[in-house]
Amino acid sequence: MNFQLTEEHRMIQQMARDFAEKELKPGVIERDASQTFPEDLVKRMGEMGFLGMMVDPEYGGGGMDTVSYVLVMEELSKWDASASVMVSVNNSLVCWGLETFGNEEQKRKYLPALTSGEYLGAFCLSEPEAGSDATQQKTTAIDMGDHYVLNGTKNWITNGGRAGLYLVVAQTDADKRHKGINCLIVERGTPGFEIGPKEDKLGIRGSDTHSLNFNEVIVPKENRVGEDGFGFKFAMKTLDGGRIGIASQALGIASGSLEVATEYAKIRKSFGTEIINHQAIQFKLAEMATEVDAARLLCLKAAFEKDNGMPYGNSAAMAKLYASKTAMFCADQAIQIHGGNGYVKEYHVERFLRDAKITEIYEGTSEIQKMVIARNLQRMGVKA
Ligand code: CAA
Repeated sequence: MNFQLTEEHRMIQQMARDFAEKELKPGVIERDASQTFPEDLVKRMGEMGFLGMMVDPEYGGGGMDTVSYVLVMEELSKWDASASVMVSVNNSLVCWGLETFGNEEQKRKYLPALTSGEYLGAFCLSEPEAGSDATQQKTTAIDMGDHYVLNGTKNWITNGGRAGLYLVVAQTDADKRHKGINCLIVERGTPGFEIGPKEDKLGIRGSDTHSLNFNEVIVPKENRVGEDGFGFKFAMKTLDGGRIGIASQALGIASGSLEVATEYAKIRKSFGTEIINHQAIQFKLAEMATEVDAARLLCLKAAFEKDNGMPYGNSAAMAKLYASKTAMFCADQAIQIHGGNGYVKEYHVERFLRDAKITEIYEGTSEIQKMVIARNLQRMGVKA
């Protein structure tokens, strides 16, 4: 067993750290307030290779492993969780899904634009009445022979207003329940496809979240991903990897909180000394550091399993469950250490807490992760 990162891993980690500090940190408070994220910054993330990290270089990707992806996600999330959710959805839900289950033509047509930042991808599963209970798809994709007709509404879609490609999950044959669901590629601008209002959110406010409406949208058969009826399995398998991305995002919010709070504690004085000398603060930082390390180990374990062809859905669920709880804990402690300063925007930590909350909700709530873990226990028993 080896806990050491390779030289290459350390390089990519450093590159992401520098990028986050120099290009994401400046302006992050303003982007949070204005709910915007400039297109040129998306392009820069594409240039840096962050948008298609694990995609084969043949399709314009970086050909990197999942461990590298975790390292990058952690670093970007330390300063800007809105940027990192774009990176996560694009990498693990859209690019990985297309590369793993799409046909050659689909991969050649869409992956180069998705990896370069020419456009982002969106993953459209959730609906007003199908969030945690994802089999209950009300959006329909009626099979008309050479095309589908798509009707319905999708909710809370990351990159919803700005994506160029949308992977839309919809019910084709209701009698077959989850086995009658398909995943279709819908391009931006397809007639009948409308982008709904932008959500005004508690956190990750720079990330662009919309509802989407599909009204008699004609989607050619060649835009279906995988075999007929594969849509639900596509979503579940893709989300297993997505949860590693969101776990790493939560890890980054937690470790960012720890770093910012530690630096603050070294300069802020009370009762005649820097507050880091008070045991009340030391104990908080010690607990935060321990939780961050535990969350990081879970993220890296899930990534290692994925990279080595092992089952990883259970570890991904554990990593997300634990890391999201750690993000909430560390952001809250960071505010407490900052005292009054922690409650105002200038010191970043109040944003960390607002951003942390979504990691307990999207890509499967914490309760859903527990369901996945418990079902795995029922099936496999307890294993070291
Ligand atoms: N991999 C492969 N197949 C899987 C699977 C997995 N991880 N999980 C389930 N399946 C298969 C099952 O084997 C079963 O197939 P068969 O009938 O052929 O045996 C089928 O899927 C149905 O499985 P279940 O009976 O377990 O289904 P369920 O209704 O009990 O639900 C669930 C399972 C895990 C709770 C699932 O509904 C779920 O993950 N819900 C959460 C949805 C979610 O994460 N949404 C996130 C939205 S995306 C997002 O947030 C992106 C963003 O923008 C940030």
